[in-house]
Amino acid sequence: MKEQQEAGTLDARQRRAPIPEAMRAYAGDGALAFHTPGHKQGLGAHPLLRRLITAEGLREEVSLMEELDDLHEPTMCIKEAEELAAALYGADHAYLMVNGTTGAIHAMLVGTLAPGDVVLVPRNAHRSLIGGIVLAGAVPVYLQPEFDAAYGIPMGVAPETVARAIEAHPEARAAALVYPTYYGVTTDLAAIAHLLHAHDMLLLVDEAHGAHLRFSGALPPQAIDCGADAAAQSTHKLLGAMTQGSLLLTRGARLDEERVREAASLLQTTSPNQLLMASIDIARLQMAEEGRARVGRAVRLAQMVRRAVNGIPGLASFGAEAMTRPGMSGLDLTKVTVSVRGLGLTGVAAEQILRHTYRVQCELSDAENLLFIISYADTEREAERLIEALRDLARTHAGGAGGEAQEMREARALPPVPETACAPRAAFFAAKERVPFDAAAGRIAAEQVMFYPPGVPLLAPGDRVTAAAIDYIRAMQRAGRKVVGPEDPQLRTLKVLREERS
Ligand SMILES: Cc1ncc(COP(=O)(O)O)c(C=O)c1O
Repeated sequence: MKEQQEAGTLDARQRRAPIPEAMRAYAGDGALAFHTPGHKQGLGAHPLLRRLITAEGLREEVSLMEELDDLHEPTMCIKEAEELAAALYGADHAYLMVNGTTGAIHAMLVGTLAPGDVVLVPRNAHRSLIGGIVLAGAVPVYLQPEFDAAYGIPMGVAPETVARAIEAHPEARAAALVYPTYYGVTTDLAAIAHLLHAHDMLLLVDEAHGAHLRFSGALPPQAIDCGADAAAQSTHKLLGAMTQGSLLLTRGARLDEERVREAASLLQTTSPNQLLMASIDIARLQMAEEGRARVGRAVRLAQMVRRAVNGIPGLASFGAEAMTRPGMSGLDLTKVTVSVRGLGLTGVAAEQILRHTYRVQCELSDAENLLFIISYADTEREAERLIEALRDLARTHAGGAGGEAQEMREARALPPVPETACAPRAAFFAAKERVPFDAAAGRIAAEQVMFYPPGVPLLAPGDRVTAAAIDYIRAMQRAGRKVVGPEDPQLRTLKVLREERS
């Protein structure tokens, strides 16, 4: 598509949006509604709902009518919308997903893995990947992502780490990786695809943050173009679908397409919201028509912000030139990570100031960074306002002592990943109990424990708790770091699997 758009040969079909067209056709027909939804095309809608959704939106918010097709056996407008999305992204198949990328990832794993299958997965995978492993009954082999102490953020999994895992686990069925990371860092996915395919393993990708990559040559290649067998993309995160609207893309003959379709059907509602589905179709249309121009502008604006930030004393923002170490091969330039370490502020404190003093909201903050997303929607006006706010923040907080930030980033080598004593699915269904945290060594954890940074779990459900993990966690707590994950935030106790007593 990059090439097609460059050559100006955009397929005329891409200029259509079959789902909204079918919705309009049904509403325009004027049939009197004796069917769901109960608001009857807006007739009974509460004024508050009417305020949120236009009269036209409510008139068209129907489903299950013959011309609106069936998400579970698409033959008409949904089939066409899926074909157009697949063509735009260079995939063989695209599935419309209405439960976000969480739903797409669940379908991807349930559609490709069987109970007991070994899957290589980053230790800091998003909870939706672990959820998919629970649903599929797969067994994870955890891969430690690279952590960059200079920036204080986790990077991708290096190809060398995948190669070692393949050697240790030649029985693995697949790797399920995150690409790009939340901070926009990409690993060398093409090299990883090559390694996995040479061993008959699948490459499944959580590409929640990559739905826009295909529309700019200045950005890293998207997962499917690197050889991934399947990729789950959040159309709603960085493109124009409504929240929850995502796509599952597949390519090649290594996976069983019918099983993927069955899994997508198994895990989705029989009453998908028509507005949501239309918004995925429209987001695809928008990218087909204007993707290159708009994503290109986002890249330019983000670079402008990055340059300005690097000229402000106390602030810094890394660019593609910094991607030189293992687990870093490229950068999604539209993600602007701003370190506030030089101001002596934590990222969390800076987020609060920006939100309440400057009315600017970042995507996330961590111990020393703020992450700003510049999307296809932004213009110079928003970029300039962001730069102004950051300039003023730096001016008013110049010369901070930095004690808190320094303490939060205190670097300690992570302890080894504990043995997986119990598959996440068995751990999910097992009976649990609480034991004193300091006496938990040898028991099987039933909850996750981590700190930000590095945002990599030290304990995860199914892990055999080690003394090294306990020591590390206690040392971090003594340094004043906040534990994330467990029900007891002080960690007086840990939830573990109940032991069978004979
Ligand atoms: C890396 C990653 N994967 C998956 C997801 C899940 O996506 P969704 O919220 O669309 O279900 C997220 C959401 O934040 C994410 O950051």
